Amino acid sequence: MSDKKIIAVVGATGAQGGGLVRAITSDPDGPFIARAITRDINSDKARALAALGAEVVAGDVDDPASLRRAFEGAYGAYCVTFFWDHFSPEKELAQARAMAEAARDAGVKHVIWSTLEDTRKWVPLSDDRMPTLMGQYKVPHFDSKGTADRVFADAGVPTTYLLTSFYWDNFIGFGMGPARGADGKLAITLPLGEAKMPGIAAEDIGRSAYGIFKKGTEMIGKRVGIAGEHVSGAEMASAFSTLLGEEVRYNAVDPSVYRGFGFPGAEDLGNMFQFKRDFEDDFRAARPVEGTRALNPSLQSFRDWLAANRDRIAKS
Ligand SMILES: NC(=O)c1ccc[n+]([C@@H]2O[C@H](COP(=O)([O-])OP(=O)(O)OC[C@H]3O[C@@H](n4cnc5c(N)ncnc54)[C@H](OP(=O)(O)O)[C@@H]3O)[C@@H](O)[C@H]2O)c1
Repeated sequence: MSDKKIIAVVGATGAQGGGLVRAITSDPDGPFIARAITRDINSDKARALAALGAEVVAGDVDDPASLRRAFEGAYGAYCVTFFWDHFSPEKELAQARAMAEAARDAGVKHVIWSTLEDTRKWVPLSDDRMPTLMGQYKVPHFDSKGTADRVFADAGVPTTYLLTSFYWDNFIGFGMGPARGADGKLAITLPLGEAKMPGIAAEDIGRSAYGIFKKGTEMIGKRVGIAGEHVSGAEMASAFSTLLGEEVRYNAVDPSVYRGFGFPGAEDLGNMFQFKRDFEDDFRAARPVEGTRALNPSLQSFRDWLAANRDRIAKS
């Protein structure tokens, strides 16, 4: 029987969890085996993970009993929530609670909770530099994750708090990539002013989490921020220009303009970018690139990521 330790991975068919499953399965001599948790064990993505050597099990973060089964016998668990599937901070908190309680009940030895800052510690609701959203949040998808940190701590679960960064993959799948304006010129539009924003290739989140699991118990109780590079809007536009062989401008709109774009989540993201701009020093200091590289030696810079995704970007 294998003496390898099982890492149960929530969101295994998605960006963060998928990166972790692939990091584990691509290191067959490593200490872990991956248990991919999915709501549909027969999906193409689930089958692809099984083909890599992952154990694939059913689990739904909205069904605590299924989570408890999925965590049973696991040494580690990667816990992530899916804000953009439902846009509800309350639901996100309930899902975090279900994962923390399942990890506690299953006796999991090391949890990584994929979190973000509770921005209200920097911008109290009384601060009107940005609007309060949904009655009690400044950046709902950040604040709910930051609130959930307590849920893991209160459950007594041995947890590493992983502060993730903006996925550069948003430039492909999330409609943020270079777009042609009325003047016919390409531009990326971000309300960041001159600030540099920590970003990361989504695949590197899971690889960095793998580094945390390998380090083991010394990481429990720690807050670990990760980024591939801190890059300004102008620097990203310049790198896009080089890649595409055509000038890409940086359209640095005001956050209030971004909030008014009208797509689902525009206000949340407008506040998020403003938070990253206005509290640039704290936000960046929490996400050191060299510390991330120590966990994940193959960490990509923005230009590395662009080069690796050249075909997908050119077509998008
Ligand atoms: N985009 C960014 O720049 C960014 C940056 C930092 C943090 N984040 C955060 O990242 C989180 C999302 O993570 P991600 O990007 O890895 O997600 P993702 O790529 O959208 O993947 C989500 C996966 O989770 C699974 N899932 C969805 N609902 C589930 C449920 N009820 N129970 C069990 N599994 C469920 C789905 O798998 P099945 O269909 O197979 O079940 C899906 O493949 C969000 O909360 C977001 O705020 C995003």
